[in-house]
Amino acid sequence: MSLLLLNTGPIATIDNGDPTIPLTGSDMSDTETLTLPSGNGVFIENGIIKKIEQSDCLSNEFGSEDTKDLTVIDCNYQAIIPGFVDSHTHLLWDGDRSNEMQLRQQGLTYSDIANLGGGINKTVEFTRNAPLEKLLALGRNRIERAVNLGITTIECKSGYGLDIESEIKLLKASNILSGTSLVDIHSTWLGAHDIPKGVKAGDYVESLISEQLPAVVEQGYAKYCDVFCEPGWFTLEQTEDIVKAAKTYGFTPRLHVDEFVDGNGLQLAAELGAVSGDHVGHSSDEAREYATKSGTMQTFLPGTPYVLGHHLNSPLRRCVDNNWQFSLATDFNPNCQTLSIPFVGSLATHRLNLTPLEALVAVTRNPATTLLDSTNSLVPGSIREGGPADLLILNSQHIDAWCQMPGDNPIHHTIKSGLIL
Ligand code: NIG
Ligand code: FE
Repeated sequence: MSLLLLNTGPIATIDNGDPTIPLTGSDMSDTETLTLPSGNGVFIENGIIKKIEQSDCLSNEFGSEDTKDLTVIDCNYQAIIPGFVDSHTHLLWDGDRSNEMQLRQQGLTYSDIANLGGGINKTVEFTRNAPLEKLLALGRNRIERAVNLGITTIECKSGYGLDIESEIKLLKASNILSGTSLVDIHSTWLGAHDIPKGVKAGDYVESLISEQLPAVVEQGYAKYCDVFCEPGWFTLEQTEDIVKAAKTYGFTPRLHVDEFVDGNGLQLAAELGAVSGDHVGHSSDEAREYATKSGTMQTFLPGTPYVLGHHLNSPLRRCVDNNWQFSLATDFNPNCQTLSIPFVGSLATHRLNLTPLEALVAVTRNPATTLLDSTNSLVPGSIREGGPADLLILNSQHIDAWCQMPGDNPIHHTIKSGLIL
């Protein structure tokens, strides 16, 4: 199976050295290194990019191959970028919390709503009652939407079960979807998303460590673990206990931290060797510096403060200026129902002053470095010979268009492992 893209527009290769290392600072806007001019071609075979060369040369070399295995696409000089890597989603849950927006408009906070029976625990109620088949159908539909919007690799958390059976049901669904859909799905156990109704916090943490965690390990569905480390949910000490226990089973931590206040969560995430601290809107500069030195990504989720009516508190410009490593993701969840990385890119550029190229690095190459798979050398997030053929043809001849159509879709074709989806 081969695919030949001819007459490409500019290509954002985001290729600069080892693809397992994130880019920071001025390297994120180095147009000369990270992009190729119009007029190239890309030859793909068995899901791998084999050659990137002048379109005419590739056309001469492969274009006349008389084989039904070869598909040729004339890109009409439309721009090409890597497939998006969404490194933070709550993809699987049932129910509807649309009523919460009016409650927020009446002045209730996220915690107020949770304390009144809304929030995470309301979604848990619906999700516990949903059969596996229903979760799979919801998941398939969401993945289809994500793919149409350019996502080719996605992280998927549990966290709306909060008991052994339901958490395993969610991870099983994620695993089945991973085996049956073309996108790469990375599963994360988030049993510590909230304290279930009617259970004492200490008892739940105890049961997470001694019962839920071993049960999840036995199923083998998840590689990452996550905790909602935030005052009112899980404390620093509880987070540390849960993560340390999970690490003994080989889990890699990625953590929700400092979403509403600076609770020193990013610092802890870095100390615990997390691949990523997520939300991090309120983290201190010291923690950001320490995280970068420790190799812990800061993953900003600006869609969440956007839907909660909060200030968009992601200091993206300062991250670039200080060489702090950072990514951007959707945080798809019952409040923030977007799987649109282009929308996140719009927030990052139209509102938070990143350049489109910097924002593109933050949704491709950088998040890919937090989802490395030791068995797979095909690291996504950039377009390079020998790399995976995960790429997007835009509806524009300009790379920068990828994040400039808020509310609309800038993607013409999503190509995953060399297949046009
Ligand atoms: O990342 N903050 C914690 N978890 C989700 C929201 C969960 C929910 O409100 O259902 C988040 O924003
Ligand atoms: Fe989240």
